[in-house]
Amino acid sequence: MNLEGKICVITAGPTYEAIDPVRFIGNRSSGRMGIELAEFVGHRGAQVILVLGPSSIKINNSEHIRVIRVETAEQMYQAVSEYSDAMDIGIFAAAVSDYRPAVIAGQKIKKSGDTMTIELIKNKDILAEVGKRKKPNQILVGFALETNDEIEHAKSKLDRKNLDMIVMNSLRDEGAGFQHLTNKVTILDRHNNIQKFELKTKREVAHDIVQYIEDKF
Ligand code: CTP
Repeated sequence: MNLEGKICVITAGPTYEAIDPVRFIGNRSSGRMGIELAEFVGHRGAQVILVLGPSSIKINNSEHIRVIRVETAEQMYQAVSEYSDAMDIGIFAAAVSDYRPAVIAGQKIKKSGDTMTIELIKNKDILAEVGKRKKPNQILVGFALETNDEIEHAKSKLDRKNLDMIVMNSLRDEGAGFQHLTNKVTILDRHNNIQKFELKTKREVAHDIVQYIEDKF
C-alpha cells in the first residue's frame, strides 16, 4: 500500500476519566508511540488525523497532521467516529481507560470514612466498534500490551476486534511499553504472519510498523 494521499486516523496517549472537578482516573501512557507514528505516516504523504489524549509531548513536522485533542474515552470515540467512514487506515495506539466513574461529582469530594468506593462503568471499545463497521478496503491496526501468553492474547484481540494487524509489546521485555523511549514489538497480521523486532527507539518502531503496512497491504 502506498500511503501518499491516504487518510489515516491515529489514536494516541492516555484518556482521563473525571472523578470530580480535580481528580481523574488515568494511566501512564505518554503518547509517544502514536505521535511518532503520526509524524512518520505524515512524512509518507498521508493525511493524518491524530486523536490525542492528554499528552505533553511536542508534535514536530505537523504539516500533514490534524490534531484533535480529547480527554475522555467517549470524546475519543466521538472524534474517531467522525472519520471512521472516510479513513483508509486506522492505527489505534491510545491507552484507553476501559472504565469510567459512573457518576462525576459536581464538587470536590471531601474525605470522610476510612475506605471509599468508586463505581465504574465500562467505556466503549473504540477499536472494536470501528472493527465492526470496517469496510473491505480499510486497514485497521491495533496495539496489545500483554504480561503473559502474549502471542495467544494478541492473536485473539486481532480476531475479536476484526483487525488486519496488531502490534504486541510485552511488559516482560525490559525497555518495552509505557514511559520508555524504546519499545520491543512483535507484529501479527490477519494472514497469520508473525514478525519479532529487536528493542529499538519508538521512532524506529514507528518506521517498522509503517514499513510493514506498506509491504503487506
Ligand atoms: N482500545 C480502544 N478502546 C478501548 C480499549 C482499547 O480503542 N476502550 C484499543 C487500544 O487502543 C489498542 C487495543 O484496543 O489498540 C488493545 O486494547 P486492550 O485494552 O489491550 O485490549 P482489550 O481487548 O481491552 O483486552 P484486555 O483489557 O483484556 O487486555
